[in-house]
Amino acid sequence: MQQSSFTRWVTIAILTLGSFVVTWATRPAPHKLKLQSRQRPLNEHIQPARVSSRALPPINRLLENFFKGTDLQWYGNISVGNPPQELSVVFDTGSHEFEVASHNSPGCTNKILFDPTRSTTFIDGGEEHNISFATGIGVDPVKDDNYEITVRSAFDTLWVEDLSVANLSFNIITSLPPTFASAPFSGIHGMSAVAEGLFSGLIMQGLPSLFGMYLTPHCVGNAEITLGGIDESKFKGTPIYGTLDPQLDLDWQLTAVKISVNGKTADILSRNTSIFFDSGTSNFAAPDGIAQAIYSLISADIKPYPDLPGAYGIACDKIPLLPAQIDLTFASQSGEPFNLTIPSSELSVGPFAGNESHCQTSINGGDAVWDILLGGSLLKHYYSIWDVGGKRIGFAPIV
Ligand SMILES: *[C@@H]1O[C@H](CO)[C@@H](O)[C@H](O)[C@H]1NC(C)=O
Ligand SMILES: *[C@@H]1O[C@H](CO)[C@@H](O)[C@H](O)[C@H]1NC(C)=O
Ligand SMILES: *[C@@H]1O[C@H](CO)[C@@H](O)[C@H](O)[C@H]1NC(C)=O
Ligand SMILES: *[C@@H]1O[C@H](CO)[C@@H](O)[C@H](O)[C@H]1NC(C)=O
Ligand SMILES: *[C@@H]1O[C@H](CO)[C@@H](O)[C@H](O)[C@H]1NC(C)=O
Ligand SMILES: *[C@@H]1O[C@H](CO)[C@@H](O)[C@H](O)[C@H]1NC(C)=O
Repeated sequence: MQQSSFTRWVTIAILTLGSFVVTWATRPAPHKLKLQSRQRPLNEHIQPARVSSRALPPINRLLENFFKGTDLQWYGNISVGNPPQELSVVFDTGSHEFEVASHNSPGCTNKILFDPTRSTTFIDGGEEHNISFATGIGVDPVKDDNYEITVRSAFDTLWVEDLSVANLSFNIITSLPPTFASAPFSGIHGMSAVAEGLFSGLIMQGLPSLFGMYLTPHCVGNAEITLGGIDESKFKGTPIYGTLDPQLDLDWQLTAVKISVNGKTADILSRNTSIFFDSGTSNFAAPDGIAQAIYSLISADIKPYPDLPGAYGIACDKIPLLPAQIDLTFASQSGEPFNLTIPSSELSVGPFAGNESHCQTSINGGDAVWDILLGGSLLKHYYSIWDVGGKRIGFAPIV
């Protein structure tokens, strides 16, 4: 069931958004440093009850920031096996499986690797398959767009603090390309809108079925995920919630009724548009038409960067002068409009490799008919509440 030739980003497009022709295979994918999938799980997933009879207290995990001049990914620790081996993972709201590098993953010299031979409860699932995934453009340039990894199915105990879930299905990465090998985290734990993996196991033990994310910029630090609750010390006011589309059960998706740039909009930005909130995406990805409409309201000097199709850029010295506030307007659960705002400070994601005076801008385009993936450049500015049981996503301004 895994895709074998497209990027996993393409997989997302195919599986979540219908049957249009996808052309990403010939273009670099937008900026991501993740192994990414929105595919249906192979095994049954759990639809948790929102309120459990026996509540476990929430669990806070500190997150580190993978920072290369710009904020790329946030990751924190869980453990695998018996005795537990502590490993760092990206908690990725854009995927739903768990993949981890092991001592059989060549080239991962900077990672802590899972060693199955040291776990008494490890079960080799024996099924290998290839997964292709996309990685960055621009600030983390790559030569090839599509990277293929090979994973092998496995079962073992997963832990967070002293809570554990036995015999969970996951994947061990057995071969991977240099770009993922060089990322500082060891794995990706999917946190889709249907709880799976470790999170679903904890919910069955009584953990409330929601989590909060505080994905602060590098300069602020103290990023955090709270499993089973929200950390009220990290935001002010009352969170505003939007209701998830029940037909997209894995996806954290809301419909934007309008996108405004510096208070102005355009026809293409005033239609209902699906926005997918993805903690594993560093920037903002949109179809070319939307990306260009937004950019044309910022500056005519922002142009596609020919060396990296899908990337846009402008002379770095022009960026500080450009207002580039992007307001996305949604309807709250009570029907009131509310905005989520990407401030002007997010416009630049840093100079292109090969031309230090030319900076990449935060929206990556693509010519697929597609909706919008929104990641770190927005999530950094809000405390986000991912309410699996309540089928809603909430936002509150950070303290
Ligand atoms: C994650 O685990 C590693 C290895 O045990 C440890 O060095 C690191 O400090 C931990 N990070 C956090 C944020 O707890
Ligand atoms: C995975 O890809 C490699 C290299 O392209 C190939 O040799 C191998 O047969 C593939 N494995 C599977 C299970 O498809
Ligand atoms: C673990 O789960 C797999 C798949 O559900 C099952 O085949 C296996 O028997 C289980 N093993 C244990 C020890 O529970
Ligand atoms: C949302 O942003 C738009 C454009 O800046 C503005 O006109 C509108 O008043 C804002 N709406 C709310 C509810 O703040
Ligand atoms: C656009 O979305 C809003 C809010 O979800 C909904 O009320 C409205 O009917 C939608 N409009 C169209 C044309 O689909
Ligand atoms: C680098 O960027 C500058 C300013 O945007 C541009 O004028 C120049 O042609 C670029 N140089 C190369 C080698 O792409």
